[in-house]
Amino acid sequence: MFELLDAAKAFIEPVIKPDSVLCDFTMGNGHDTEYLCRRAPQGKVYAFDIQESAVENTAKRLKEAGLENAELICASHADCKKYIHEQISAGMFNLGYLPGSGNKELHTMRESTMPAVSSAIELLKKGGILVISVYPGHEEGRLEGEMLCEKLAQLDKKYYCVTMLKLINSPDAPFIIAVEKYDK
Ligand SMILES: C[S@@+](CC[C@H](N)C(=O)[O-])C[C@H]1O[C@@H](n2cnc3c(N)ncnc32)[C@H](O)[C@@H]1O
Repeated sequence: MFELLDAAKAFIEPVIKPDSVLCDFTMGNGHDTEYLCRRAPQGKVYAFDIQESAVENTAKRLKEAGLENAELICASHADCKKYIHEQISAGMFNLGYLPGSGNKELHTMRESTMPAVSSAIELLKKGGILVISVYPGHEEGRLEGEMLCEKLAQLDKKYYCVTMLKLINSPDAPFIIAVEKYDK
């Protein structure tokens, strides 16, 4: 059975070292932030969300887990380059809305998702990987997916490998786009 999160992790795990700099571009309740913090205990994890409650929930989660290697930032991921002044080895985007928040209005949007993904690609070090989980089951998610596929298909194949992992017999199911920056 295809598990989206397991597949996303399988893409980035090979490039993560204990001292890597990583980023969770959609912090939410902090599951992915916690995962990244555990993978890079001597490194650093930047995490972004526009919702104060996401930052609070994640701070609580990390405190309970005894993890102190994250910087939690309450700002749009579109502004990530204002906060990150070093290269990252891996980044995760988990698009859509915060599960369980009751507020489905506060979901990711094309106008900030695209600049955020472009900035994230600029921040990637050579050999680094960005993984984006897309949810086409709702209208904005479907449009985000189309936009990302169209734009990321234009990345120069000399420098990037862009992969899509998608269930072809379930068109509305979530899918993954991974962007690898070649190590050359
Ligand atoms: C699917 S949830 C992320 C789940 C999260 N990774 C976890 O482990 O719980 C998507 C998150 O993206 C956040 N978000 C929406 N627009 C954003 C933006 N412009 N910048 C940063 N985060 C944003 C939402 O507030 C929501 O918490």
